Amino acid sequence: MSATQPEEREFDVVVWGATGFTGRLVAEYLLETYGDGAELRWAIGGRNREKLEALREEIGRETGRSAAGLPLVVGDGDDEAFVAELARRTRVVCTTVGPYAKYGSKLVAACAALGTHYCDLTGEVQWMRRMIDAHQKEAEASGARIVHTCGFDSIPSDLGVFFLQREMRRRHGVPCARIKCRVKGFSGAFSGGTIASLLNVLDEAGRDREVRRLMADPYGLNPEGQRSGPDGPDRTTPAYDDDFSAWTAPFIMAGINHKVVRRSNALLGHAYGAEFRYDEAMLMGDGPVGWLKAAGLTGGLAAAMGAGAIGPLRSLLGRVLPAPGEGPSKEQREAGYFDLRLYGEHPEDRGKSLRAKVTGDRDPGYGSTAKMLGESAVCLAQDEITVGGGFWTPASVMGEPLLERLQAKAGLTFSIEAD
Ligand SMILES: NC(=O)c1ccc[n+]([C@@H]2O[C@H](COP(=O)([O-])OP(=O)(O)OC[C@H]3O[C@@H](n4cnc5c(N)ncnc54)[C@H](OP(=O)(O)O)[C@@H]3O)[C@@H](O)[C@H]2O)c1
Repeated sequence: MSATQPEEREFDVVVWGATGFTGRLVAEYLLETYGDGAELRWAIGGRNREKLEALREEIGRETGRSAAGLPLVVGDGDDEAFVAELARRTRVVCTTVGPYAKYGSKLVAACAALGTHYCDLTGEVQWMRRMIDAHQKEAEASGARIVHTCGFDSIPSDLGVFFLQREMRRRHGVPCARIKCRVKGFSGAFSGGTIASLLNVLDEAGRDREVRRLMADPYGLNPEGQRSGPDGPDRTTPAYDDDFSAWTAPFIMAGINHKVVRRSNALLGHAYGAEFRYDEAMLMGDGPVGWLKAAGLTGGLAAAMGAGAIGPLRSLLGRVLPAPGEGPSKEQREAGYFDLRLYGEHPEDRGKSLRAKVTGDRDPGYGSTAKMLGESAVCLAQDEITVGGGFWTPASVMGEPLLERLQAKAGLTFSIEAD
């Protein structure tokens, strides 16, 4: 495959899968924030022209901005020749076509070969591992920066850690030896596409021992030769956390976020330290009520995962949960939020430990995720990024510029809290 230089391409960004539930929110956000062409040369893409035309009109109406200048890119994501053409026309592909393990591999291959930057919302660890192993060398050679997990998983965790480590280094000259990230609260719901992706991961894990092994490996996304460290398997039981004076329960996204943060550390040349430890959990409150809530949530999570993996229960779930294309209403998204608290341990003096807070002003999975993904795409297209091609994490490739963008435009906050 031959490629034009990225700066000569027709578009800065193509939002691929714009007719899906999340893709539409990304398109709406970009239109509202950047207009239809002067500030950012971007297009909406998908497989159905009529749906794209209708979407263009609807997001124009919804945002009150002209969308007439937005080009449409139409084709089937399964058609290799079309996907290569798509990758040749743009500096960045921003894709919400998932489950990615089912529909995303050809697009990643084309971007890696053609020097096209790429961001997505996958949390499918087994697929990310396959893509890294298959295309890392090509992406290095072509200059394509490929970045998975640019939504709620895993930007708040990954950039939250990046931010807290920066602050610890600024104040005390050393990185935190350990960071705990605790979910204090959130409000939001799942979409059909996310449920389809979760079920697909459970399917693959059920069939393939290698996938199960990878998911259980705390360093499963680290580069070859760097897959060990002090962190053990993810916790699956309630536990009391003295640093937060509360009971904690396992957090459903932790299995992904842990691996992404640990990969960031490796890709940043172990800037957080070779012995850095990281874990996430949900805060459930103090005392017997806190314990009861933690035990209840832990049991509920295990039951849901079990049901998703068992045929008949799974088809029942399929009937009650949203189908692909469906998700939380505008009211639910706007009333949503998330609030994460981080505790960063000073390596020698606990008195110098720091606490940070990361918040979002929309529901985590869609309202905030759409803004995070949209800003990641613009960051890859327009900001000065010093690293070359390859498979990166959000923090290791876009760290500082993305931190700035998310706070200036996307309703996220990153702050240090008084102890
Ligand atoms: N990490 C996070 O925080 C986060 C948050 C939200 C979503 N997600 C992930 O994002 C993905 C999308 O979720 P969603 O709820 O937006 O899903 P969705 O509504 O089902 O949308 C999927 C999109 O893929 C398109 N598509 C499917 N096959 C295609 C093909 N062969 N060629 C071109 N387009 C194709 C669909 O096109 P049509 O419109 O033509 O059917 C649709 O636009 C899921 O994998 C989900 O897990 C992650």
